[in-house]
Amino acid sequence: MRATHVAASRTSTSILAERWWLRVGDERLLVRPSTEHDLSAVAVMHRRCSAPALLARYRLGGRPPAVIALDAQLRGVLSYVVVAATPASAPPAVIATGSVETDAEHGPEAGRLEVLVEDSWQRQGIGRELVRHLAGAAALAGHTQLVAYCGSGNEPAQRLLVPIGPTRFVPDATGGHLHTALPADAVGGLGPLRSGRFLWGDHGVEFRPDDSAYPARSA
Ligand SMILES: CC(C)(COP(=O)(O)OP(=O)(O)OC[C@H]1O[C@@H](n2cnc3c(N)ncnc32)[C@H](O)[C@@H]1OP(=O)(O)O)[C@@H](O)C(=O)NCCC(=O)NCCS
Repeated sequence: MRATHVAASRTSTSILAERWWLRVGDERLLVRPSTEHDLSAVAVMHRRCSAPALLARYRLGGRPPAVIALDAQLRGVLSYVVVAATPASAPPAVIATGSVETDAEHGPEAGRLEVLVEDSWQRQGIGRELVRHLAGAAALAGHTQLVAYCGSGNEPAQRLLVPIGPTRFVPDATGGHLHTALPADAVGGLGPLRSGRFLWGDHGVEFRPDDSAYPARSA
């Protein structure tokens, strides 16, 4: 896989392709790996996002990225979408995106974390769930650091990363980034692991023999 040096078992890495659920109020949200087929739904989601949210995510003056850049993002190995699919939100809509890929500036040890939650869905814990999952995915993929280019004064991003590991703000030409040391036990934050369908054992991720606990409300 593209992201660095995966030395885990096949089951361990295949957990990265698993879908899982989280609950926000009465909504049950699906989190799954993204594909190029999500492009139109993700582009529509970006049209619903505010300029400040897009600015914090992309540093492009508050505009969404070009379609070709979105397409590349969605094809990433560790790229996920959050889909609201209950009748209350019909038709199904992508309401958040998140990804990790090797950060060119810091080398293969570092995963660049990118998260965007649509404004009307913010402050309900979706960002926290997604970042815990992405930190787990990054750790499983062999990264030991997370880097988030979110500029200075991005309190929500700081609040998301500080619980993951020791985090510092580093000024740079983009407006600054957060740099987080990724502990190995961040793997425990993987959404499917927390769903109860998998176990983290001596040999990495293992299927739970009885998967009756799935899907479960996310922790
Ligand atoms: C950062 C972002 C992903 C957080 O998503 P979210 O779903 O609102 O996050 P959560 O609801 O899980 O909240 C996470 C923490 O941030 C806090 N928070 C959320 N929005 C906040 C705001 N506008 N001001 C202050 N704190 C805020 C929450 O209270 C929570 O902190 P706590 O658990 O310590 O109390 C979302 O605000 C966003 O998409 N922002 C624009 C893009 C961006 O900045 N991405 C990050 C860098 S790539």
